[in-house]
Amino acid sequence: MEQRKLGRGLEVSALGLGCMGFSHAYGAPMERNAAIALLRGAFDKGVTFFDTAEVYGPFTNEDLVGEALEPFKGEVVIATKFGFGIGEDGKQNGRLDSRPEHIHAVVDASLQRLRVETIDLLYQHRVDPAVPIEEVAGTVRNLIGAGKVKHFGLSEAGVETIRRAHAVQPVTALQSEYSLWWREREHDVLPVLEELGIGLVPYSPLGRGFLTGKIDASTQFDAGDFRANMPRFSPAAREANQKLIEVLTRLAAEFAATPAQLALAWLLAQKPWIVPIPGTTKMPRLDENLGAVDIKLSVAQLREIDEVASAVVVEGARYPAHLEQMTGR
Ligand SMILES: NC(=O)c1ccc[n+]([C@@H]2O[C@H](COP(=O)([O-])OP(=O)(O)OC[C@H]3O[C@@H](n4cnc5c(N)ncnc54)[C@H](OP(=O)(O)O)[C@@H]3O)[C@@H](O)[C@H]2O)c1
Repeated sequence: MEQRKLGRGLEVSALGLGCMGFSHAYGAPMERNAAIALLRGAFDKGVTFFDTAEVYGPFTNEDLVGEALEPFKGEVVIATKFGFGIGEDGKQNGRLDSRPEHIHAVVDASLQRLRVETIDLLYQHRVDPAVPIEEVAGTVRNLIGAGKVKHFGLSEAGVETIRRAHAVQPVTALQSEYSLWWREREHDVLPVLEELGIGLVPYSPLGRGFLTGKIDASTQFDAGDFRANMPRFSPAAREANQKLIEVLTRLAAEFAATPAQLALAWLLAQKPWIVPIPGTTKMPRLDENLGAVDIKLSVAQLREIDEVASAVVVEGARYPAHLEQMTGR
């Protein structure tokens, strides 16, 4: 598979694999052996970049990824994240926590669960307004010095935070939502990433599944699927947003692709330092998604996609307000 470079030299496959949905956010966790087989299958197909976080589960996703990828140590890049508070009961407590002592404790625990000596890429999951970003970047710099971490990343950070963090410890990648139905960071954040030489890892590149065309107003989400609480996934929004699927399906057919492949190929074509991390729990869909790497869109095709897709007004906020306010800081 095509390789891409994040920041000053973290080489990864052009598409990574988002692992969250194996154990978190999208309903019941996947059966463990099936998840391990999928992760190993992804490596066999050329995926070398895997995305997890302490809070996915919490803990169980890192543990799963660690077991599955242990045979490929040194051949894969595993990214994880710290920064959400987790209570004594092992559940997310709704708070952010990027205090240095907490980061140290999380890193030690993540190293154990991931079964590695060094975390390849460590992101702050959300900017914590209670801890200056210089302190967070300094803590990660110390962890890099101690050999526990290789690269520093931020997630959903705003431009000032990115600049301040980067001045203390060079940032290798920013992970943020970016897709054909959420392009808010294009005009402020992307130019700063380009200027500073920071890679972009778009999360939810398939619009949490919507851009594949497999979700409509009649889709029933399982208990525990957080899309049920997202304004953009209300039945009315899903109904209204079928307009976007209609145009994507038409364009995809024109380019001999599926809507999912078109959504990913469009992202890959934006910049050579963009590495999307679509998630799927199904092998045929993984194959479909990886096929996007071979779709090279011409300038004219990209212009057509831009014109047609941006003419559609997408209904519904991507997050409920209390989660949206944790982003872009
Ligand atoms: N930094 C952050 O705050 C943050 C936030 C969200 C996500 N992430 C990361 O980004 C990764 C990807 O994001 P995401 O999982 O939210 O969204 P996504 O990749 O946009 O979409 C995943 C959804 O699409 C479905 N899907 C995938 N390929 C498909 C295909 N070819 N056809 C039909 N359906 C398909 C999956 O269902 P099936 O499993 O049934 O295929 C799943 O429900 C996550 O795994 C996580 O690692 C990070």
